[in-house]
Formats: sequence, structure tokens, C-alpha cells
Amino acid sequence: MSYAAFRSIGAYVPEKILSNEDLSTMVDTSDEWITKRTGIKERHIAAETEFTSDMGVKAAELAIERSGVAKKDIDMVVCATISPDYFCMPSTATIMSTKLGLNNVTAFDISAACTGFVYILSIAKAFIESGMKKNVLIIGAEKLSAITDYTDRGTCILFGDGAGAAMICATDKKEEAIIDVHTGADGEYADLLMTPNGGSGSAHDAKVDDALKQEANSCFMQMKGNETFKVAVRTLTKDVVEILNENKIQSDEIKHFVPHQANYRIIKAVGDALKLKEEQVVLTVAKYGNTSGASIPMAINDIYESGRLQKGELMLLDAFGGGLTWGSALVPFSPNK
Ligand code: COA
Repeated sequence: MSYAAFRSIGAYVPEKILSNEDLSTMVDTSDEWITKRTGIKERHIAAETEFTSDMGVKAAELAIERSGVAKKDIDMVVCATISPDYFCMPSTATIMSTKLGLNNVTAFDISAACTGFVYILSIAKAFIESGMKKNVLIIGAEKLSAITDYTDRGTCILFGDGAGAAMICATDKKEEAIIDVHTGADGEYADLLMTPNGGSGSAHDAKVDDALKQEANSCFMQMKGNETFKVAVRTLTKDVVEILNENKIQSDEIKHFVPHQANYRIIKAVGDALKLKEEQVVLTVAKYGNTSGASIPMAINDIYESGRLQKGELMLLDAFGGGLTWGSALVPFSPNK
């Protein structure tokens, strides 16, 4: 049987910074409020002509190079995004495949919001373990600034742009294998986090608040922040406890806990519930904000590039997002060298 190994990581962060001070000139907010409630100090914003696919390609080039896999041997590209270059079609994965010079691949996007990277990790693992694919490029890329309402202080303070990518490759060494990936969803909470307009039925959906329908022509994100916060803490903690128990792994065996970077208070609450030490918890929320499907691979890239992530070390990924969706994964870092 083939196992799936997490071989490499790469990320791209756009140049322009949008600080809390900048936002306080745009909406009624302050650096103090944003820092205290979210832990975010700044986020990066893509240039107008920089698409989600452009960012994804830059992250992917790094991941491919670091994996040592030849481009001709990559047989699948999967992208997690809620801010694709084009809604519906073509998929951002197909656009990126062509920009990367990958001409003989299966390519598609998935929509699982901030849990997207954990979902595409599970897809890569399943395709490799079944023997259908050998080298899968997974990319989380988001230009959330394109779907953010910069007049809504409840959401515009949270989100940023960026991309992260990883190569997931077949291996026969069990010790290199991704141990487990959990994914879950519950549409009952769909209205907590959504882009209520722009879809085929949304404007007529009885479940969508009248207040949310007002922005009739926008594809902006809308969020019930406080309710989302509570469900996030509950769901993230429950999922991690389950994946650790099922795999008989203690929390002190985790070298790097890499949660979705939505809000420092959410991460702290989950970390405390699991009794994790500060040095186990990876934090990038202060400098990138919430980059949805890109947030986990961007955080992994941060510890990789700063020399903190070493071969064989166990990562625990944990995510939560619109849908609602959630997921977690136990992943040893398994570079070739
Ligand atoms: N600046 C200043 N005041 C703000 C504000 C801002 N940017 N945003 C909201 N407020 C105000 C509200 O209007 C409210 O004022 P009121 O008490 O006079 O009515 C007050 O702050 C409290 O609002 P509330 O929404 O209860 O704040 P909160 O502590 O829940 O923090 C979030 C708001 C959005 C930061 C927080 O709910 C959150 O992070 N939620 C989870 C979001 C998330 O992670 N989403 C993605 C999941 S993948």
C-alpha cells in the first residue's frame, strides 16, 4: 500500500500591508480594539492586478522546488479557495496548473472556506493511498480583499490575502505517512458566515437575513461574529480531542499545533483546553490576519522558513470555517532530505 507524505511547503505573502491604523481611518475602529479582540496587528493585501492564482502559483513554485519532485511527475492539483479568480469557472486550479506549466494533471477547486486546506489534504491523502495519484500539489490561495466589505468594521478588520502550498507524495515508508485527517460539516449553521449574494438562489433564500440581503449586488462576506466565535472554540477543541484519542497520541507528542489563524482569543482558548505549551502553538495571526484556506499553509511555511520545522516533527492542524466546516490532521513533516 502507498502512504501519503507531506514533503514540502511554500507560501506567498503580497507586499502591501494594511495596518490597524490604516483601517481606523476607513471605519470606526482602533488599533487597541482590534488588537485586544483579535490579536491582529496587520494583514497583507494583493495588488489590484494580482489574482488569487498569481499568489497560488508563487507559493506552489516554492513547494515544488523544495519537494524535489519534477513538474512532469505532478499528477494532480487541488486548490482550496473562497475567492477564486472567477466564480464558477474556470477553476483556479486549472488556471494555476497552466501558469505552472503542468499540462497533464487532474485539477479542481474545492469550497470549504477556512477549513479548505485540511479538506484538500484529505483529498490528496485519499487519492495517493488508493493508488490513483502519486504527486499531488495542494494550494490554499485567497484574495479575500476582493470579497471584503471595507465599510463593515465587524469583518474588514479580520481578513487578509496570501497563499500557501504543499506537495503530498506517495511513499512506502509508514513513518513518513500523514497519520489521519478528520473533516466535518454542518449546514445548519450556514448563515453564521456567508456571501449571501451572487449565487443562484441566495437572494430568495428564507434562511438569509433581510439585513444580509440588502447588499443586493455584492459578493461580500457577512458574518455573525460573536456566535461564530463560540461555535469555533467548541468545534475546534472537540475535533482535536477526538483525533488525538482515536490515534492514541498525547498532546505533548505534538511539536507544532498549527490552528487556522482567525483570532488569537480563539487559538488561546483551544490551546488552553488542550493544555498545550506556548512553544507548541504556531501563531501568525498578528501579521497576516485571517487568510482562510491559505492560513494553515502560510503558518507552516513560517515555521519552516524560520528553521523551527524539522524532518519527522509531528504537526497537528486544526481548522474551522464557513459552511460550517471543520477539520484536523496529524501530519509528520517528511521532506526527502
Ligand atoms: N471596532 C470597534 N468596535 C467594534 C468593531 C470594531 N472593528 N467591531 C465590532 N465592534 C463593536 C460592536 O459594534 C459592539 O458594540 P456594542 O456593544 O456597542 O453593540 C461591540 O464592539 C462588541 O461586538 P461583538 O461582535 O460582540 O464583539 P466580539 O468581542 O465578538 O468581537 C469579532 C468581534 C468579530 C472580533 C469576534 O466576534 C470574532 O473574532 N469572531 C470570530 C470571527 C472569526 O473567526 N471568523 C472566521 C471564522 S473562520
